[in-house]
Amino acid sequence: MAGSRKGARTKAEMAKKLFIKSYGCQMNVYDSGRMADVLAPLGYESVAGPEGADMVILNTCHIREKAAEKVYSELGRLRKLKDAEGEMVIAVAGCVAQAEGEEILTRAPVVDMVFGPQSYHRLPDMLARLEAGAKNILDTDFPVEDKFDALPKVGGAKIPPAAFLTVQEGCDKFCTFCVVPYTRGAEFSRPAAKVIAEAEALAASGTREVTLLGQNVNAYHGEGQGGTWGLGRLISELAKIEGLDRIRYTTSHPRDMDDDLIRAHGEIEKLMPYLHLPIQSGSDKVLKAMNRQHTAEDYRALVDRVRAARSDLALSSDFIVGFPGETDEDFEDTLRLVEEIGYAQCFSFKYSPRPGTPGADMECQVPDEVKAERLTRLQTLLGAQANEFHESMVGREFDVLFEKPGRYDGQIIGRSPYLQATHVIASQDLIGEIGRVRIIAAKTNSLEGELLSSQTREVA
Ligand code: SAH
Ligand code: SF4
Ligand code: F3S
Repeated sequence: MAGSRKGARTKAEMAKKLFIKSYGCQMNVYDSGRMADVLAPLGYESVAGPEGADMVILNTCHIREKAAEKVYSELGRLRKLKDAEGEMVIAVAGCVAQAEGEEILTRAPVVDMVFGPQSYHRLPDMLARLEAGAKNILDTDFPVEDKFDALPKVGGAKIPPAAFLTVQEGCDKFCTFCVVPYTRGAEFSRPAAKVIAEAEALAASGTREVTLLGQNVNAYHGEGQGGTWGLGRLISELAKIEGLDRIRYTTSHPRDMDDDLIRAHGEIEKLMPYLHLPIQSGSDKVLKAMNRQHTAEDYRALVDRVRAARSDLALSSDFIVGFPGETDEDFEDTLRLVEEIGYAQCFSFKYSPRPGTPGADMECQVPDEVKAERLTRLQTLLGAQANEFHESMVGREFDVLFEKPGRYDGQIIGRSPYLQATHVIASQDLIGEIGRVRIIAAKTNSLEGELLSSQTREVA
């Protein structure tokens, strides 16, 4: 069946099917959208699964060993599919591609092309080379041209109510556990005017919320009118865009929270009261070994300042347990810090030694059982805090931007200002609109609300 389906059409007759699977962080989600934009003029339409696809791109993540290994098991499944279906271009993009390059082509010969996060604007060229008979295409250079300039403009029918927008990419911090400075390269900030133009295009296509993305988004230092702009200035300019009602940003580094940005949390209503501010560990000794360049006390003081600017700010963080040399006392320091700060939601991981990073060669690696035990304890505490925060929403009223149909008939779902999934029973026509909601129950992973009123957008 599959064979005859393929045989019955010519490229010119039918749109080609593209399936992109994203792993890892939100920047990969943004990049996957941009790859689809690059391929759209070549006739590629996005589909929901790899079956019957003409091209499959795995947009990969290298942050932990497990994340990287997922790619090879997915490639195994794709090989079987390709054997059954015939023609299919298989590409590996993203951070595993950048880090492992050639090795992927050797380990998984089914792969036709491998390209890193800085090369995907060259996809049409790579496809043309493949059609001309080239094999095993590898493009992991950091090109001199600005990738963002070479990408098509955003906009059009498929823009979601809440969209991502990359403003900064790469990292110069070199935390000793982390691969990102190697896979994404040096810190780069997009010029403010280009970010504003992209946000305006999104707003014109119906986007009501943007999440500004960067590996170190608050290190943003883009060229702007009158000199270099920080993230606070950029946000205050984006807040002037009509139709764009909500702004978020992620991920921040504690060292880069400057006065302007802290002030923005108090002054700019469109800036949502949620801040992801990873600390990784509560022990100064571990923070130093991680090269985080700040102490736990610096972090506590910073949190006080941001909370003074915006009292209802919901905080989240990332934690790593079992970094080399972490003792029971160091881990207790982390638990104590969590108790003191009080988080809305957190992500926590066992330390995973990554090839080429200083942490991987450090002595005193922590045994896996110890990591596992610490992770369970930390997650129990974080889970209790998250539940408490979640339940404190019952009875409260706030605005929700409805993004899509909910799981059950008649439901629509969106995000609270504090990023919690919130569903109400209401007409699907409200998707893309902001509604006032009263929370009536806290479920495990979402809030249940009732719609009080909805603002419909004025049409000029
Ligand atoms: N730029 C962000 C983090 C990017 S990676 C920042 O500076 O905070 C996302 C998270 O993955 C990190 O915050 C960290 O908690 C975790 N992580 C990164 N490398 C890791 C490793 N080698 N092992 C376990 N977790 C890791
Ligand atoms: Fe990785 Fe540290 Fe850079 Fe974050 S700041 S991306 S954790 S090196
Ligand atoms: Fe993963 Fe690369 Fe993002 S390693 S977390 S996909 S920057």
